[in-house]
Amino acid sequence: MEIREVAVVGLGTMGAGIAEVFARAGLGVTAIEADAEALRRGLSTLDASLSRAVSRGKLDAREQSEIRARVRLGGGFASAAGVDLAIEVVPERLEIKRQVFAELDRVCSPDAILATNTSSLSVTEIAAGTRHPGRVVGMHFFNPAPVMRLVEVVSTVLSREDVPAIVADLARRLGKTPVQVGDRAGFIANALLLPYLNHAVGLLETGYATAADIDTAATAGIGLPMGPLALLDLIGLDTSLSILEVLYREFGRPRYCPAPLLRRLAAAGRTGRKAGRGVHEYAGARRTGPASAEQNEAGYPAPDTVTLIGAGDEHETALATALASAGMNVTRNAAHPTELVVIVAEASQQVLPAALAAGRPDQAVGLHLLDGLAPGSLAELVRTSLTSDKSMLAAVGLAARLGLAVVRAPDRPGFLVGALLYPHLADAVRMVEDDYATAADIDAAMMLGCGYPQGPFQLLDAAGATDVLVGLRAMYLAYGFPSFAPPPLLAEHAAAGIDFAGVGHRRAGPAGPATAG
Ligand code: CAA
Repeated sequence: MEIREVAVVGLGTMGAGIAEVFARAGLGVTAIEADAEALRRGLSTLDASLSRAVSRGKLDAREQSEIRARVRLGGGFASAAGVDLAIEVVPERLEIKRQVFAELDRVCSPDAILATNTSSLSVTEIAAGTRHPGRVVGMHFFNPAPVMRLVEVVSTVLSREDVPAIVADLARRLGKTPVQVGDRAGFIANALLLPYLNHAVGLLETGYATAADIDTAATAGIGLPMGPLALLDLIGLDTSLSILEVLYREFGRPRYCPAPLLRRLAAAGRTGRKAGRGVHEYAGARRTGPASAEQNEAGYPAPDTVTLIGAGDEHETALATALASAGMNVTRNAAHPTELVVIVAEASQQVLPAALAAGRPDQAVGLHLLDGLAPGSLAELVRTSLTSDKSMLAAVGLAARLGLAVVRAPDRPGFLVGALLYPHLADAVRMVEDDYATAADIDAAMMLGCGYPQGPFQLLDAAGATDVLVGLRAMYLAYGFPSFAPPPLLAEHAAAGIDFAGVGHRRAGPAGPATAG
């Protein structure tokens, strides 16, 4: 069965993107919205995206008008009567989805496939309410739909056998990579992504770090394409909240419990880019908003003299050389009066003991280098409970003189990058442990769906299972949150010294470990 004509119901940010993807691939698209105003808004999103592609030289004007001509404005559900596939992209509420499916079920031919773009709701429940549940599947795109390559194809126990394969073929024709998944809340990518985003809101809410620093920790520290708070603004805080509510109801794990600040921002209408304001502020596609403290501090001068305290290893020597080359006088003598005491910080070690030992804890700042001293690499500036504001500013100046990007972090386990990353990696390991998905599928989903340059298991292997384990243990000891408890599978990998990449995790059956084939 070749899909040629589709209907897209709901032209919000995601729906407009999906309509664009279909039309670009040469399919006829019937766009259906609740009213003329919503339809107009959706089409203007689609037009803006096409114009952007033209201005970037990715499309010419003729292609743009051909694509646009393939999108027809539907006059209600009846206009979906002749389509081969209808996909709904309406808000994440089961009762709304069910209403839409009831209408589609009524008007579409029994051969047509009905797809939901739900991020987390049960496709089975949606299918069960229709007359022909065998033709109902999930076809889950990622934001921005024209860019992200993953499509999760969700089948249910009710799905007709041929339907997921037809939808996967369609996804390939759209230039996407389909991944077949079962009907489990959040499927693969959202089940892993959303608790990480939620945790980032928690860090902001509790004053652990600023919004700008949280986002920089993810981009410059982990290498992700966007920070978690900027990503929440892209997905929509309301949508993210709905997904978390479903995940929390389904799994009951505290990491899914929506951060109160997320609820407040969504309730206040600060739903993200689409509203011009979410965690950050926007004018069109551009980030605006008041100058952050970080920007104000950017011009702060580097100190003339610095005391450097480290383990006497090559990291300390390299830092001493860099500081001297950048024109600062460096001493290792703690008694020597200098403007700043720089403690070379190790990932899972508290800075305070060294700061106290140096005798001038108010002047001491931990410096944790994530990736050496190459220009633009990230340094975490670690503030103990005794560090003065002046010393933090001097450390910002010092890092700027060295050409490093900085984030500020409290003297807590993981500092900021680890505090975001370690629990995220633990979640990924738990998904494998629970037989939710394989490490390879999780890596693929996060790379194709969320633009990760490396999947979580590749990140984990690169960081080293032992280091991640040590970081998590320290976080668990400090906070006692069950989600920080290191998963046994991680401890096993650390103890055995084996990577996750390429290791298939099969359950041991009653007759012993399962074997391939
Ligand atoms: N619509 C269409 N195209 C867009 C776009 C949009 N909204 N935003 C960016 N693009 C295109 C640009 O035109 C550009 O295309 P070319 O390379 O062909 O010129 C390309 O994407 C890169 O864009 P930029 O150079 O402007 O910006 P960037 O390099 O910073 O990339 C990004 C932007 C692609 C969004 C990138 O930051 C990224 O991958 N972010 C992660 C997004 C993510 O995680 N999405 C998944 C969220 S979860 C979800 O959506 C599922 C759910 O159910 C909630």
